[in-house]
Amino acid sequence: MVNKSETEDRVIIFDTTLRDGEQSAGAGLTVEEKLRIAHQLARLGVDVIEAGFAASSPGDFEAVRRIAQEVKGPTICTLSRAVASDIDAAGKALEGVKNARIHTFISASDIHLMHQMRKDREAIMDMAVEAVKRAKSYVDDVEFSPMDASRTDPVYLYAMLEAVIKAGATTVNIPDTVGYSNPEEFGALIKGIFENVPNIKDAVVSVHCHNDLGMAGANSLAAVENGARQVEGCINGLGERAGNAALEEVIMSVETRPDHYKVKTGIDTKEIGNTSRMISNIFGFPVQYNKAIVGRNAFRHSSGIHQDGFLKDRTTFEIMEPDTVGWRGESLVLTKLSGRAGLRARLSELGYRLKDDEIANVFAAFKDLADNKAEIDDRDLHALMSEQHRVADTARTYQVETVHVVCGNDTSPEATVTLHCPDGEKRSTNQHGTGPVDAVCKAIDSIIHMDVELTEFSVNAVTEGIDALGDVTIRIEKDGNVYSGRGADTDIVVASAKAYVNAINRLLMIGAQDAGSESTTPKETV
Ligand code: KIV
Ligand code: ZN
Repeated sequence: MVNKSETEDRVIIFDTTLRDGEQSAGAGLTVEEKLRIAHQLARLGVDVIEAGFAASSPGDFEAVRRIAQEVKGPTICTLSRAVASDIDAAGKALEGVKNARIHTFISASDIHLMHQMRKDREAIMDMAVEAVKRAKSYVDDVEFSPMDASRTDPVYLYAMLEAVIKAGATTVNIPDTVGYSNPEEFGALIKGIFENVPNIKDAVVSVHCHNDLGMAGANSLAAVENGARQVEGCINGLGERAGNAALEEVIMSVETRPDHYKVKTGIDTKEIGNTSRMISNIFGFPVQYNKAIVGRNAFRHSSGIHQDGFLKDRTTFEIMEPDTVGWRGESLVLTKLSGRAGLRARLSELGYRLKDDEIANVFAAFKDLADNKAEIDDRDLHALMSEQHRVADTARTYQVETVHVVCGNDTSPEATVTLHCPDGEKRSTNQHGTGPVDAVCKAIDSIIHMDVELTEFSVNAVTEGIDALGDVTIRIEKDGNVYSGRGADTDIVVASAKAYVNAINRLLMIGAQDAGSESTTPKETV
């Protein structure tokens, strides 16, 4: 737990990519994927990882438990509603863990109380206090959130914060749950809390802003200006609806403008680029090109006047060096002449620590890629590693063996696909379709016999050039749940086959993880 006295000039970075981020429509991660992300968040140096919502499904419970056991450094936190069964599940998932936090929340605004909770203010206040006391019986580090705080009567909010701090909450988090606020108003709300909650000095004030009006980052920073010392958010701005504050933007704002914010973070900013790409790959959400800090154009200067100034002195048009957020590697390339040691060293710099038994497969895949692509840069390596992880994570499910297509403007597109199936057999089939990708998906359907609807299909080139890897993202829907799949290959039809099979594998794995869940389907979210 970060000590309250240490937080005078330090902002605690609370990452909720694995909880609120996973609530992004069409996300849905396996336990192994969450662990991989959690290890990278630890390398990034976040203070707190909200690893999931333990009571929401057996898969989430297992992810929280394993992350708490295996990831060293950050405090590991799990969310729980202010109900006994949720808090008990949270306590159980974190059992025996030294740096553990339970984050309990309840709605506070009259809109929520009237329409959702159907309880009065007094009853809600009692539930909040009881929840904090119960959480406290499991861990010392308890965070409380009054949901929809920015639309809550401030007088009721102050009273609730005072009561939960008295009950033992060590962090009080102020969510702008629906992204309704603006910097002036939200800053004033935080100021009001410091002025009106008598025991506020006994807790860290945190904020959790959503981005419905594009204000999440600005609102979080306004809160910091007014004394908040924990900011919650997600890498790449993931999260429910329009997402949460993009942590990389908040971090780089305070790191770039210490003169203004007068605070620091414990973040290793050079890990931002790696973290962003890993999360984008695993979630299957590409980062928009002009996204601040992590977009591929974030450090590119294209206008003549800008280039001229930049070449004379980079500070004319650059406020951060790309190097400080981990973009340096773009200029480093590997080729088919590169050796195993060079590949291993570069991957290690990108955050992939390979075991001896893994390097052989990765090196073989690298050589295959290098045969088709002259220069391989960091973006290719991230795509290659994601492909390797997808294959490893789904080893006991379906794998694409071969894909052959016949297509053109004078023939009916036809695909022959061979899959390696979970029972160890290889099965092949041949189907026609409206195009080569449709034919491939139909062939896969006729082997797997799974009734899914393909709802999204997109192809991106990983790098520039005609020999670029094609990175395909596919989303499928079954029983109201959306699953994403991704595949990379220099042949985009093969990449599509891999992505479609990956989406089906993830559906099967997440379904198996959550088998026996008592929660509602789709899995319960906030
Ligand atoms: O947006 C929100 O209010 C939340 C709470 C659970 C903190 O995610
Ligand atoms: Zn949220």
